[in-house]
Amino acid sequence: MALDEFLAELDELKREAVAAFGAAGDDDALEAARVQFLGAKSGRLKAVQKGLGSVDKADKPTAGKRFNAAKGQIEAAFQAALERLAKRAGPAAGARQFDPTVPGILPRLGHVHPITQTIEEVKDILGRLGFTVAEGPEVEDHWHNFEALNIPADHPARDPLDNFYLATAEKTEPLAASQSTEKQWLLRSQTSTVQIRVMEKTKPPVRIISLGRVYRPDTADATHYPMFHQVEGLLVDRHVTMADLKSVLRLFGMSYFQGDTHIRFRPSFFPFTEPSVEIDMSWTGGWVEMGGAGMVDPNVLKAVGYDPEEVTGFAFGLGIERMCARRHGIDDIREFFRNDVRFLHQF
Ligand code: FA5
Repeated sequence: MALDEFLAELDELKREAVAAFGAAGDDDALEAARVQFLGAKSGRLKAVQKGLGSVDKADKPTAGKRFNAAKGQIEAAFQAALERLAKRAGPAAGARQFDPTVPGILPRLGHVHPITQTIEEVKDILGRLGFTVAEGPEVEDHWHNFEALNIPADHPARDPLDNFYLATAEKTEPLAASQSTEKQWLLRSQTSTVQIRVMEKTKPPVRIISLGRVYRPDTADATHYPMFHQVEGLLVDRHVTMADLKSVLRLFGMSYFQGDTHIRFRPSFFPFTEPSVEIDMSWTGGWVEMGGAGMVDPNVLKAVGYDPEEVTGFAFGLGIERMCARRHGIDDIREFFRNDVRFLHQF
């Protein structure tokens, strides 16, 4: 190949390559131009380099020099285009530069709900007083929710307006002959149902607590919610008295409220305890109703096969939301269910 011809080809390639790199508007266009002109296998510069071999021997040094110079210029044009695009993608395009000295953003950790925290704490405190945790179902039958608890058939506590009866009627297992023949299920309205389930299976002495959700069609207000949590306590043994009940509740209150908590009993009525009381607690002034309690009614002891001449027992049921609200100075228990993270994050 004649030198003139080679140099003309080389100049044309250089002109086109420099123009292409200069015109590349984004990374993709630049990469396409790079492959076209500087590609290692089939780039056009490579093709021109091959032509160098066929230049007359005498002209080779000149051709080689001019080739190297053109190659350097093309590569410089590519480099310049790279830098131009990098700058544009940088701060000018609004992207943030990485600054290793800026403090990191802490990942947000999940949080245990205050009601769950209260449940755990109550388990812990009463666990130290020797109470073990018993579980019971939230969907209950009449026997455990009413009859075994000495709540007669005509008692207003059974009223459909005071309970969430389930539309499904079928039992999964047949009831014993002594138990209710009614085939209705309901969401339990109190954790006292678990007392019965435990006593049916366990011989005295019994010392259990049961914590969980209960349901009542109460209108939601500052102290009521249709679904709430209770902790039930039951202690059955020889010579158990109301004094034991009061001592346990006082020790519990002092530990949970972390202060000198006083307990006041007000006469009340529950079909499954006799006598029955409402429990008020006072911790930093003012009495607050926390739950109900009493001595287990002899009829209940009999219903589960215990001998009321041999053993006596006390039972109590406290509202978890009310306790938690009182301790943290929250004046509306609906806050626990709104699940506003700004509220929940404070616990
Ligand atoms: C009972 O549920 C009895 N089972 C307590 C009991 C247990 C008595 C063992 C005797 C022996 P009562 O209906 O009063 O009692 O409810 C107990 C507590 O649950 C109340 O004092 C209150 O703290 C809480 N509570 C009741 N209804 C609601 C509600 N709708 N929302 C939030 N808390 C409630």
